Amino acid sequence: MFFYANALPERSFVPRGCRAKEGAPMTDYTYDFVNVRMGDGIAWAALNRPEKRNAMSPALHYEMDDALARLEVDDNVKVVVVTGEGGNFSAGQDLKKFFRELENNPAERKKAAAAANRWRWERLYGYDKPTIAMVHGYCVGGAFMQLLACDFAIAAEDAAFSLSEVNWGILPGALVSKAVADAVLPRHALYYACLGEPFDGKEAARIGMINYAVPAEKLEAATVELAQKLMKKSPAVLRATKQAIRHVRTMDVPQAYDYLAEKGKAIKAADKEDSYNTGLRQFLDEKSYKPTFEPFRLATSDKPSKAGAKK
Ligand code: COA
Repeated sequence: MFFYANALPERSFVPRGCRAKEGAPMTDYTYDFVNVRMGDGIAWAALNRPEKRNAMSPALHYEMDDALARLEVDDNVKVVVVTGEGGNFSAGQDLKKFFRELENNPAERKKAAAAANRWRWERLYGYDKPTIAMVHGYCVGGAFMQLLACDFAIAAEDAAFSLSEVNWGILPGALVSKAVADAVLPRHALYYACLGEPFDGKEAARIGMINYAVPAEKLEAATVELAQKLMKKSPAVLRATKQAIRHVRTMDVPQAYDYLAEKGKAIKAADKEDSYNTGLRQFLDEKSYKPTFEPFRLATSDKPSKAGAKK
């Protein structure tokens, strides 16, 4: 069921088919501990401390917080993929630089923790664009925050997940315990948090920690495929839908009715696609697609999609 990801060859993460759109102005996303690559509407934001298995230092947190803030408002970006360089997602918080070295520096500790929590949770959880966690190699401890804050997660079957905190003497802190408890059934949450046993991508999918696992060599292609599906949806409707699914969880029924009705109206106010009217027109009048199988054609897309219409 599990084997060590460090048995895998170390490889640098270079997404295939990652091309800058011709003529599109490229913003400079140069950092020391984060790599950002862009192409075809997808931004790949990769933690970049491969020699430390992408353990997250304060400097990395500041950079990732900045990168995600800028990608959220970059018109070239439709989907953001969060991942890691060197064959690993992340070995969690840096036990030396984030924990031990900041023990006697409460001011810096508070600042670093705020940045860490902001990008790993608040920013990703409410992100305006769809997000995908692409997991290979190790995903440990504090890395479960960004794993679970992303809208979707795909892992290599041989990825190695571990809620390791219990093994080195703390509980899964920041928001890890809450994120895990909200994501999976209590038995799975208790088992893996209390035992600290590693589990692979297939097990992560089985318990609902990720959407699905694929063979390692297909991971990037599977991520691109999901991103492309998301890019075919109306951005305004997709944004409202993911926010709605997240927020209704903590509402009672009357609140949810009210919130969803108002959110539905809000889409129309800022929807460049005029999705509701366009979706109805293309189905009822033009008969060009079937909503059961595929989205209506966006005004920005080049050609109509026929896929699924014949089913
Ligand atoms: N914090 C700080 N340093 C870390 C780290 C972490 N979370 N994870 C790995 N590193 C460092 C190691 O100390 C080592 O540094 P060195 O080269 O200066 O000695 C380097 O990264 C490589 O790690 P190593 O343990 O030699 O690699 P490995 O491939 O054999 O094992 C792990 C990788 C991830 C299984 C192992 O490093 C580990 O268990 N790390 C701790 C993960 C953890 O519990 N994180 C939770 C934090 S909330």
